This record gives sequence, structure tokens and C-alpha cells, in this order.
Amino acid sequence: MIVNGNNRHSDALLEMESVSVNFPVKRAYPFSKRQWIQAVTDVSLRVSMGETFGIVGESGCGKSTLANAMIGMIRPTSGTVRFQGDDLFSLNRQAFKAARRNMQMVFQDPFSSLNPRFTVYDIIREPLYIRGGVSESDMKGKVLELLNLVGLDEEDLQRYPSDFSGGQRQRIGIARAIILNPSFLVCDEPVSGLDVSVHAQILNLLMEIQQSLNLTYVFISHNLAVVKNICQHMHVMYLGKTMEAGAADSVFSNPLHPYTKALLSAILDIDVSRPRERVLLKGDTPSPIDPPSGCRFWQRCPFAMEGCKTIPAELVNVEPDHHVACHLISGFSSEQKAAGFAQPLSPQHGE
Ligand SMILES: Nc1ncnc2c1ncn2[C@@H]1O[C@H](COP(=O)(O)OP(=O)(O)OP(=O)(O)O)[C@@H](O)[C@H]1O
Ligand SMILES: [Mg+2]
Repeated sequence: MIVNGNNRHSDALLEMESVSVNFPVKRAYPFSKRQWIQAVTDVSLRVSMGETFGIVGESGCGKSTLANAMIGMIRPTSGTVRFQGDDLFSLNRQAFKAARRNMQMVFQDPFSSLNPRFTVYDIIREPLYIRGGVSESDMKGKVLELLNLVGLDEEDLQRYPSDFSGGQRQRIGIARAIILNPSFLVCDEPVSGLDVSVHAQILNLLMEIQQSLNLTYVFISHNLAVVKNICQHMHVMYLGKTMEAGAADSVFSNPLHPYTKALLSAILDIDVSRPRERVLLKGDTPSPIDPPSGCRFWQRCPFAMEGCKTIPAELVNVEPDHHVACHLISGFSSEQKAAGFAQPLSPQHGE
């Protein structure tokens, strides 16, 4: 099931269907058992043209892996990625390269993502230079235009990344990401490596660029307040799986999954007139090498029931444009109830 979620097929720019990504674990000994890190499991989503689509979840839940699969940097272990209607991994080499140029990424860490030995000019123009077919003077003109767009000066062109603050480096990274005129930009925690004082400036810059260049964004963030402000749709991920998804307005106004509630409990609520139920999580996220059977969240869920331990929770549609994968919401069948699956676990479970 593809979830963004209403069923607007026509304006979809990117669709992922049942995408899973497993990484092999390095074997300690040549004959030890092969193990896999299940970084992303069975994620389906649809990003519509022109929107900002948020992905949230704790560190290690698979956000960057999903982002890399979206733009063809990682080939999924299973599932399909369609960009502009084409199956990305069935395209021939030339078409794949063209699609890849149309999908760019703004990285979390502007300190390590820029080559310290390149000048700003070389960093920004590099994708255009590699693509070829542009004269040096046109290239310079384009770089100057972008420099102006991201709020840097012409004098900055011959300087090196080490001469800039984190916020300025991120501006350079953004200019580089848009030099090939992409239609799709994945922003992987673009401000979390920066000083809080520049968060708003960089976010505003990204929003202005989206408007002026008519871009579609996937925006990955730990910061739910930001996602609430800028995203139209969102996915909440936990241990590689989608826990809740849909219109950001619905998810924020009516969070249903205990994990989403816990994430929301952790942010200061601007709307004090609607105090929220506080859900505090215990323990750490389990290993993605051997994730829990049943619902991946059951060990940390304060409302877990017997059945959550063994029966995977499927995403179900709870209201228009709002899906949740939780047995509390979807319920158990009468046979499952008779077998004791709806029995709450003791409050100490998972400890
Ligand atoms: N190339 C790789 N090889 C092996 N394991 C990987 C690789 N990339 C990611 N992983 C593992 O996959 C899981 C998901 O990682 P990922 O980087 O996608 O998480 P994330 O949600 O982006 O985390 P963060 O918020 O810290 O950036 C983690 O357990 C990580 O260690
Ligand atoms: Mg990441």
C-alpha cells in the first residue's frame, strides 16, 4: 500500500513501494553466520510534485538509508522506486544518470560534505563541470547567479570551506545541490549540524528556493516542530518501519501511534490550549540486526499487548490521508482476543 496519503497518482513525483534495504554485517569469522542489518523494511510512500514531505524518527531508524534509496544512491534489497513514473533501477545507464541529476541531496554535515581542498567556485560548479557541455563563462555566470541566490558574495568564490561558518557552508552545499536544476531535493537533517542561531535562516533559504525554483522536497529531521511548520505530508519511522503516515496536519492534530505521541511529548508544545497525553519511552531502540518480531515497537511501548509481541502491525487507514500501524488502533480479531492477544503486558515488560 502506498501511503502519502491520499491516492493522487497523477501528481506523484516519487513513489516507493515496499522498499526494504538490508546491509550485510561484517562477519567476525569467515564461517560465522551471515547477518543483516534491516535498515529499512517494507516502506511505501508517495511524494507529490511541489510538496515538502517530512521523515521523522530517532537516530538509526533508517531515514538516511531511505533517502539514499530514493535518489538511487542505494539499490534496495527489494521493492520499487519510481521517479517521474519510471522504475529508477530499470532505467538504462543514460536515463538513470539523467534521473540522478534531477534528484539532489543537501547533507546534514556541511563540514564533511564539502571538499576542503576545493575553492567555493570549484565546489559549486563541480556537478555542472562533470556533466559537461557548458562553456567556462556560462559556468561562471551560473555559479554567480546561485551564489547570489543563497546569499553569498562574489568575493567568496576563491575562498575555501574552512574560511566559512557552518551556516555559510550549508549555503554553499545548497548552491551545489541546485546547480543542475533538479526538480527533487532531499534535505537530510540540513540544519541539525548547525548552530541554533542559523537554523531559521537556512530553513527560510530552503523555503525561498523551493518557491522560486518550484522544487519538491523530502525533509528529514529530528525536529518535529520544523516538520510541523514546513511539511504537507510525513512519515514517522521506527527501527526501519513506518509507524504512522499521512497529512502532517492530521498526524500532528491527532497522533495515534504511541511512538508518535512519545516523539510529540518530547517537544515543547506551542499550542498550550490543547495539552497532550504524555508518553514516555523506556529503554533504547533495539538492534536492527535482529529486530523484534511482531510490532517493532512493542518492547518500548507502554500500551503493548500479548499479540504485539508476535503479530506485525500493518498500516491501516484511520481517516482520510492518515495511516497508522498499531494494534491498539486496528484491534485484534475475536479469535485473537480469545487466544489472549489483547491482554496488556505488565508495565515492566521489555526491561
Ligand atoms: N552502509 C551501511 N552499512 C551497514 N550498515 C549501515 C549502513 N548505512 C546505515 N547502516 C545502518 O542502518 C541503520 C539505519 O541507519 P541510517 O543512517 O539510515 O539511520 P538514520 O535514521 O539516518 O540515523 P541518524 O538520525 O543518526 O542520521 C543503522 O543501524 C546504521 O548503522
Ligand atoms: Mg541519517
